[in-house]
Amino acid sequence: MEKKRVSNFKPNAKYIAGAKWGDEGKGKIASRESEDAKLVIRATGGANAGHTIIYKDNKLALHLVPGGIVNPEAICLIGQGVAFDPIIFLQEIEDLNKINVPNVRERIKISGRAPVVFPYHKDLDGLYESIKDNPIGTTKRGIGPCYADHDNRVGMRVYDLLLPEDELAKKIDVATRVHNQLFKLYNMENCIVDPKKLAKEFHEYGQKIKEMVVNADILTSKARKNGDKIAVEGAQAYRLDKNYGDYENVTSSNCVTAGALIGGHLNHKDVKEVVMITKAYDSRVGNGPFPTELPAHIKNDVVLPYDKPFEGDIIREEGHEYGATTKRPRRVGWCDAVILRSAKDAEGADYICINHLDTLGKIGNILGNIKICVGYKYQGKEIDYYPDDMNLTHEVPTPIYKTLKGGWDISSDLRDYNKLPDLAKEFIKIVEDVAEIPVKYIGVGPKNEDLIVREEL
Ligand code: IMP
Repeated sequence: MEKKRVSNFKPNAKYIAGAKWGDEGKGKIASRESEDAKLVIRATGGANAGHTIIYKDNKLALHLVPGGIVNPEAICLIGQGVAFDPIIFLQEIEDLNKINVPNVRERIKISGRAPVVFPYHKDLDGLYESIKDNPIGTTKRGIGPCYADHDNRVGMRVYDLLLPEDELAKKIDVATRVHNQLFKLYNMENCIVDPKKLAKEFHEYGQKIKEMVVNADILTSKARKNGDKIAVEGAQAYRLDKNYGDYENVTSSNCVTAGALIGGHLNHKDVKEVVMITKAYDSRVGNGPFPTELPAHIKNDVVLPYDKPFEGDIIREEGHEYGATTKRPRRVGWCDAVILRSAKDAEGADYICINHLDTLGKIGNILGNIKICVGYKYQGKEIDYYPDDMNLTHEVPTPIYKTLKGGWDISSDLRDYNKLPDLAKEFIKIVEDVAEIPVKYIGVGPKNEDLIVREEL
């Protein structure tokens, strides 16, 4: 007789995933999902991410604290997968207090197991970028070197900041012996670490955060048992994932759903739904392949003066595409629906959210047409998947586009999907057909509430 599976798991976690190269507007859905969540989790990446929160008309850019902090009932966890930068974190706490977000210190929990970012990680980040012929264009927040130390088992975790100062100094000494040799070799003497001095500084941070440091397994276990709603705010995205993405132009974490589960102290049975976020056009900061990229007047992350804009300049300016963390102008291009199909499989996504549908309409009005990538030409063949051997072929796939004539106007207070202009609905239908996943959410304006939700799906 087949044995009945017995478990007390009540899956109630929603993961908000990025579908492309980040900056898809994950905050919009994250904030919606956090409204009734008991636990909100940041699980991957670190202060390389950025999202803006609005609390009682006050705007604040956060990099580490989950956006769900604006829900006064929510416990917000910085999970074990997050590269935790105490300097940036403490600044965010101060900023949140300034705008009177209630009980911030009581509601934020930090996993004791999260790897800590030290200033030498930022120096190493800069060093590795400087020795590459083709730098990645990292955010220089020390993310890669912090995770690398963690993998090498010489990294410090949040728990280590609570050690007596001399014990912490010993650990920092071991961690930085090789790094200090590198700094010497590359004439970066000013970056050489004095373990005692650094231990003193970071021990003080430890004292400032100690009441927030927890064994986060207990938090998620309790939520799991109660069936509490958990919102997991994704950082970065599918094509920046260190395994799935365009290696080496990736970040150093697994930012797809599976990675976020580990980083968030969750397991696969916790997942109730994965919503994957994209824009109606695409953008990328940093280097690496971008098949649908359009020409723009950008060089070395700076917008050059121009008389006549290229298509990319028009999209960038209409979409205000400048990095939240680094302020760099973003590279932009048409929406790539082929990536969405691959992303859906990697993320285990249930639905897509398309942001900036209103902006795409305006772009179409200006340019006279809109394009969607529905396939590629690559290595002399037509393909319908994102290739993973571009390092080998030195070829970026050429998009095969479907073109829609014209654009549209959408008012940001539109909430009824059926009232969208026909051309906008046609665009969505093409995305759904190519990506093989329904579009449930549609962003029609800059505010979190400027969202059409297709409840029928
Ligand atoms: P790192 O994560 O700072 O090491 O940067 C690696 C790559 O990921 C660079 O191309 C960054 O621009 C990109 N990146 C990292 N975080 C984000 C993000 O939150 N949004 C968009 N791009 C990101």
